[in-house]
Amino acid sequence: MSKHTKTLGLIGSGLIGSQLARLAVSHGFHVVLSNSRGPETLADLVAELGPRARAATSTDAASAGDVVVVTVPLRSYRDLPAEALAGKVVIDTCNYYPRRDGRIPELDDESTTTSELIQAQLPGARVVKAFNNIYFADLPEGSPAGTPNRRALPVAGDDEAAKATVAAMVDEFGFDVVDAGPLAEGWRFQRDTPAYVTPADADGMREALGRAKRYAEMG
Ligand SMILES: NC(=O)c1ccc[n+]([C@@H]2O[C@H](COP(=O)([O-])OP(=O)(O)OC[C@H]3O[C@@H](n4cnc5c(N)ncnc54)[C@H](OP(=O)(O)O)[C@@H]3O)[C@@H](O)[C@H]2O)c1
Repeated sequence: MSKHTKTLGLIGSGLIGSQLARLAVSHGFHVVLSNSRGPETLADLVAELGPRARAATSTDAASAGDVVVVTVPLRSYRDLPAEALAGKVVIDTCNYYPRRDGRIPELDDESTTTSELIQAQLPGARVVKAFNNIYFADLPEGSPAGTPNRRALPVAGDDEAAKATVAAMVDEFGFDVVDAGPLAEGWRFQRDTPAYVTPADADGMREALGRAKRYAEMG
């Protein structure tokens, strides 16, 4: 188990949330799952995960987590329990898909980025962007540290201690870590960039982040 983390709270327990919960449980964490429909709808996943897992409301999952993952369709960002997340390390896996999420003008004009939008919604939280650029089915495919050409995942965040906590988890879950900088640099691994869902080792990931273009530049 990580030195830093004992309980992972999950706001969203779909494709990504359930995979992160499986990884967390297999690494000795307790997990508290939540979704939009209520804890009773997560009974099957809780049963699969065993005694280290329980389901709760999103507010309770936020309160219970040493680290809390926000892994919902981005359109739901205004529903996040800001008060319960104050002071917490929050992992944001969310991506912006206008067809699913509706138009969000400040993302369309690139005056902000998805994780900065979530950070603004959660002013007391310590948001770290991670696990947004890996396909959910690839999450269990990590490998031990030191494996040649080990897959790397980027993290971005404004709070260095929070970023270090999340980096330790990413490594524990099977991936090298590339520090992509502050949240404002998170666009470098957003949807449609070279770093998005394409496996790369640490050198390859740094290279992919370096040649990312803003949507406006892509035309
Ligand atoms: N799928 C991937 O491979 C992948 C990879 C990287 C990043 N992502 C991103 O990560 C996020 C989650 O993706 P996903 O594929 O896991 O989505 P998903 O399978 O659709 O699951 C979304 C989860 O969020 C919950 N949810 C929705 N609104 C909520 C709210 N207001 N409060 C609490 N929970 C809420 C849903 O609960 P209900 O079912 O009860 O509504 C569900 O458990 C998205 O932003 C996505 O773009 C996805």
